[in-house]
Amino acid sequence: MKYQRPKGTADILPDEAVAWNYIESTAKKLFDNYRFHEIRTPIFENFEVFSRSAGDTSDIVTKEMYDFHDKGDRHITLRPEGTAGVVRAFVENKLYGPEHIKPVKLYYTGPMFRYERPQSGRLREFHQIGVEAFGSESPNLDVEVISMGMHLLKKLGIHNLKLVINTLGDQATRKAYRSALIAYLEPHFDELSEDSKVRLHKNPLRVLDSKDKDDQKLVADAPSILDYLTPESASHFETVKNLLETLQIDYQVDASMVRGLDYYNHTIFEIMANDKALGKGDVTVCAGGRYNGLVEELGGPETPGIGFGLGVERLLLLMQAQKAPLPTISPLDVYVVGIGDETKSETLKIVETIRNNGFSTDQDYLDRKPKSQFKTADRLNAKIVITLGNDELAQKVVNLKVMATGDEQQVKLEDVYDNFPKLFGKFLKK
Ligand code: HAM
Repeated sequence: MKYQRPKGTADILPDEAVAWNYIESTAKKLFDNYRFHEIRTPIFENFEVFSRSAGDTSDIVTKEMYDFHDKGDRHITLRPEGTAGVVRAFVENKLYGPEHIKPVKLYYTGPMFRYERPQSGRLREFHQIGVEAFGSESPNLDVEVISMGMHLLKKLGIHNLKLVINTLGDQATRKAYRSALIAYLEPHFDELSEDSKVRLHKNPLRVLDSKDKDDQKLVADAPSILDYLTPESASHFETVKNLLETLQIDYQVDASMVRGLDYYNHTIFEIMANDKALGKGDVTVCAGGRYNGLVEELGGPETPGIGFGLGVERLLLLMQAQKAPLPTISPLDVYVVGIGDETKSETLKIVETIRNNGFSTDQDYLDRKPKSQFKTADRLNAKIVITLGNDELAQKVVNLKVMATGDEQQVKLEDVYDNFPKLFGKFLKK
């Protein structure tokens, strides 16, 4: 039998893992500047954490969840997204308490699971870098979160970004808009897709997000939520737009954008990029918004929240397509060539000592001939090659060559053990 990875998953091989680490560490440094701190939550949660938050009419909950009953008959779900688990943790650990400075600003990275049709930039196991901020309704925070997402993408060398925003208003807005939308769609009931027929009365906003072509034609002329905003919602959105302008962040308003999760209200946004590597048209790489009722929904006190999730696989495809700088595995500092069986224990001691001094070091483990060991050192781009044969061993010295200059010298073993950083560190500066 030939084993293959499950459909929609990917192996991240060492060359790529370097790029992943670079993306994650760049994000962490930037988030630290914005004072977001890391949180790690379980990769699986109880089913209700997602059904109550993402919404039981959303595609994610109705079609895409990896959920199962465990051996104790608990209904478990592999997380399809990060927000719900972080909100659950926020409530369960009482991060809303007075000892936590508000807003509580958190970030996370890790795998998410959705049973979707795999294609370029769309996987069943994918990775998000996400942020969530709790405890402030200030439009300043909306704009900071958006700005942080844009900032990260730019820092990673992505260009041609497009920021699209919309507002879903507050509860009163939603109520008024819901009625208007139902009134508009009802006469077309028979033309709607089966999914949309079910959703029309449960959650008509979902019809706006339908992937069905005929539904999309119908909703093109649907009323706009922007005409139903309460004065408070309209004012929040106005301020967000003004602040984006203050920061000179270009944006477009798309009044038909609703996002695929049910927990949003007020500001929602998507940062898109247009690149062939990610398929036709604009592809969303980072998306999020406000979710002011979600903490209560999951059993906590009334606490506003806002955040985003950024797809790492999509980001990497974009970086590759746009030729953004990506690091590769760093060259080797020192390669130790041992000639003859008698040198084996000494070469082991040398590599371990140099490693303990903080330099990357390697040697031969396959009984290669000296010529082939030198070739390996070359292929590994070693900056220094140390050679130890029987004669050197007898004289308690090694031969040391600095590859950049070609300089060779005999060095006392004692100096390799006691003074390596002082004598040779300068050739190995990172
Ligand atoms: P989302 O729009 O469902 O939002 O996902 C955010 C990002 O994750 C997408 O823009 C995309 O880059 C990436 N993504 C989603 N599904 C896949 C997939 N199947 N394969 C590859 N990448 C994918 C959320 O998940 C919200 N939790 C974001 C949020 C945080 N809102 C507030 N706080």
